[in-house]
Parts: sequence; C-alpha cells; structure tokens
Amino acid sequence: MLEVRGLDVRYGRTHAVRSVDLDLAEGEIVTVLGANGAGKTSLLRALQGAVRAADGSIRFAGEDLTHASPADRVRRGMMLVPEGRQIFVSMTVHENLMMGAYLRSDGDWMRDLKEVYDRFPNLAERRDMKASVLSGGEQQMLAIGRALVSRPRLIMLDEPSLGLSPLFVNNLFELIRELNRGGISILLVEQNTAMALETASRGYVLELGRVVLADTAEALAGDPALAAAYLGGHAAAPAAIQTL
Ligand SMILES: Nc1ncnc2c1ncn2[C@@H]1O[C@H](COP(=O)(O)OP(=O)(O)O)[C@@H](O)[C@H]1O
Ligand SMILES: [Mg+2]
Repeated sequence: MLEVRGLDVRYGRTHAVRSVDLDLAEGEIVTVLGANGAGKTSLLRALQGAVRAADGSIRFAGEDLTHASPADRVRRGMMLVPEGRQIFVSMTVHENLMMGAYLRSDGDWMRDLKEVYDRFPNLAERRDMKASVLSGGEQQMLAIGRALVSRPRLIMLDEPSLGLSPLFVNNLFELIRELNRGGISILLVEQNTAMALETASRGYVLELGRVVLADTAEALAGDPALAAAYLGGHAAAPAAIQTL
C-alpha cells in the first residue's frame, strides 16, 4: 500500500532523512523507532507532503504521490496525526473535529463524525467546550478523532504516547489495535519501543536519518543492539547520538 524508495529530506545543510526505503502492506501496523533527532518526524512530514522530498519516491495505493500536495494525499487516504497533537486549543472540540471533514468531497463525513463521538464519549460530552480544557490524553483522542473524520486508509502517528499517563498509554495502544482491526493501516512513530513493538508486526529503526535495522517486531524486540546502540537507552550509546 505504501512504498517509499530512496527518500531524502534536507533542511539546508541538514540531511535529516537519508535514502530511506520503507514498505507497508494494507492492514499492517508498522513502527518507526529511533532516538531524538533520528529523522522520524521528517520522514512522516515528507510522507504527508509538508516537506518536499529532496530525492526518492513515495507510492501510495498504486499512485506516485511524490509530488502531490498534502491535501491530495489526505484525499487519497493518508492522514498524519502530528507530533504534539497540534489541535486548536482556542476552538471547541466540535470545531476541531470539523477540521477533519474539511477535505471530504462526499457527504458521508457526518456519519464518520458521529462514529467518532460514539467511540470517544469524553469528546461528545465536551463537544462545545474549548479544546484547551481537555487533558493530554483527551487531546490525543481529539487529534486521532479529527484524523478519523477524514476517513483515512492509513494513519501516521507521530509519538502519540508522548506525555501521557501509563493508563492512557495503554488505552491509546488498544485504540490503535482497534482502528487497525477496523481496516485502517497504521504507521506508528514511537519512543515507547516496548509498546510499539508489541503492537506492530514490523519495525524500522532510524539512526541519523538512515534505516539501520528493519525486521519483524518480534525480532527487533529480542535484538539487544536495538536499545543499546540506536535508541539512546543505554550508557554506551554512540557519541553522535548523545549529542542530538
Ligand atoms: N524544520 C527544520 N529545520 C532544520 N532542521 C530540522 C528541522 N526539523 C528537523 N530538523 C533536524 O532534522 C533532524 C531530524 O529531526 P526530526 O525529524 O525531528 O527527528 P525525530 O523526529 O526523530 O526526533 C534533526 O537533526 C533536526 O534538528
Ligand atoms: Mg519527532
């Protein structure tokens, strides 16, 4: 469904994503792991079209979207839930969810909106309140709910568990599995390696913009090199990562 080849992202002299190949089959949950600064967000932003690919190609559902606009990618079913949620705190919960319908050309978004309210009763109860009153976990639900209103085929989540309490993290990962069972493919960027590898079928590990490991989630979970060398979770992490 998603086929990324030789993807490069550059910001001036910073080469944030280096020749990344990544595949995701329809119905899969794939995770992308890596230390801070590894290029995870840059990769997702390139897939969404917010930053230009300096090189390489992005195919989605049989079409070359390398040069497509972000709006076009949303219309074709790719939706990013960005790092830090990026909800509009001065708008109401309902207004935030309506943003997800913005690019829908069909009239069915009302049904999807209703499904979001059914799925998240907390959001339904707070529908006319400013999004700023929501807890961190509820804000993440709102960000995901807004994505669902666009009726995505692929949701790309950038560190959705960041800053959430352990209980909410569990709920979040359960939600991700549930959405996937409902037919949505998931590309999951996470720093919570253990949970991400429990949830995904395959994973990629980025280091300084490159894919340094790509394997089944099971193999990655059992790979001692993962935590030690690439995720900065060990005292012996390479100096290059410690400076990031
Ligand atoms: N808008 C930007 N302008 C310049 N450099 C950036 C920008 N965004 C990210 N970078 C740099 O690109 C590299 C990868 O960052 P990022 O994709 O945010 O990594 P991650 O999400 O894995 O933490 C880092 O060196 C970061 O400083
Ligand atoms: Mg990031």
